[in-house]
Formats: sequence, C-alpha cells, structure tokens
Amino acid sequence: MLKNSTKSYGWATICMHWLQAVTILFMFGLGLYMVDLTYYDPWYRGSLELHKSIGIMLMVLWAAMLLWRFANTNPKPEPGPAWEQLAAKAMHWVLYLTIGSLLISGYLISTADGRSIAVFDLFQVPALPALIENQETVVGEIHEILAWSLIGLVILHFAAAMKHHFLNKDNVLRRMIRPLGQSR
Ligand code: HEM
Repeated sequence: MLKNSTKSYGWATICMHWLQAVTILFMFGLGLYMVDLTYYDPWYRGSLELHKSIGIMLMVLWAAMLLWRFANTNPKPEPGPAWEQLAAKAMHWVLYLTIGSLLISGYLISTADGRSIAVFDLFQVPALPALIENQETVVGEIHEILAWSLIGLVILHFAAAMKHHFLNKDNVLRRMIRPLGQSR
C-alpha cells in the first residue's frame, strides 16, 4: 500500500516522514557542530558544503511530501476531543511551514554573495540577486531562530505521538510506522 487511506498512511508518506525526521535531526546536529568550527579546521568547508547539499535535497523532499499530501487521501483523525484533533492538524501545518521557511532561509544565506549552491558536486542551484542589505547576517539570525523553533515543535510533536501511543493506546503512531490496511 503506497498511497494513504482514510485509516492509515501508506508507504510513500511513511518513508518520506521518517527520512525527513532523521535528516532534520542530523542537520540540526551538523549545524550546531559547524558553528563551533574555525576557518582552519579541516572540516570547516566540508561540513558547510554537506549542510547546503542536504538542505537542497530536503527542499525536494519537503515539496514532494506536500504534493503527495494534496494528491491523495489523508487518514481520518483517531477518536478524541475536537480541540486535540484541531491542534494536531495545526501542528502538522506549522511543522511544514517552519521547515519550508528554514530551508528557504538557508538558501538565502548561502546565495547572499551571489554564488550558486553545488549539490554534492552533481548540479548547481543558481543564486537570486540579494533581496535585502546584510542578507547573510539578518537571514542567518532568522535561520537560527527557525532551527531552534523547529526542534521545540518536534519535541511537542514527539510528546503528542507518545501520549497517543501509551495513554490513548490508539493507532496514531502505529499508522505512521506501517500501513494498517485498506479502508477508503
Ligand atoms: C524532525 C522530526 C519530525 C518532523 C519534521 C515531523 C513532521 C511531521 C509532519 C509534517 C507530519 C504530518 C504528515 C502529514 O499528514 O502530511 C507528521 C506526522 C506524524 N509524525 Fe512526525 N515529524 C518528526 C518526527 C516524529 C517523531 C520522532 C515521531 C514519533 C516518534 C513522529 C510521529 C508522527 C506521527 C505519529 C504522525 C501522524 C500523526 C497523525 O496521524 O495525526 N514524528 N510528522
């Protein structure tokens, strides 16, 4: 079952979700590690190039997840109070929005000096003309705030998943681990 059903996520969403989750956590760790390196550290350039390349790949994954989301059914919320269902929906959209803004801000920092981004030496993503003065510094601050906000949201999101699984004992987490069968 590749596509979602009204009961469960399908393999496409499940694989993209966990790939995105692991990559974002890795990128956060890499970002924290990078900012402590000095110019003379052998990994200074390499870690930055890796961060930028993965960032562009994440943009593709983010867009694919959104397109896939609009292209097929989504599982109905598990029984629960209306406010909780609304909060879960809002959280998913805030996650998408924060990830998108984080990725765009990363692109704007990297291309502020007019240089394109080399993605794993495979292809180049061209730069746009600078949009604001001091773009690298201003957007750099925004990028950092967004990264920490995303981690805060992910902690809340993780706590909600644990609550569903261990307290409510419903299928919310199970259906994001493997498809739970067809029901349209
Ligand atoms: C960086 C880490 C993560 C990000 C960015 C993320 C993002 C998202 C997004 C955007 C959705 C909505 C999918 C959709 O319907 O289109 C989602 C759903 C979900 N996530 Fe995550 N997630 C992350 C980590 C985790 C972790 C660690 C867990 C649990 C251990 C988890 C459990 C779930 C579950 C159970 C759903 C489905 C919720 C439902 O059916 O209402 N996620 N996640």
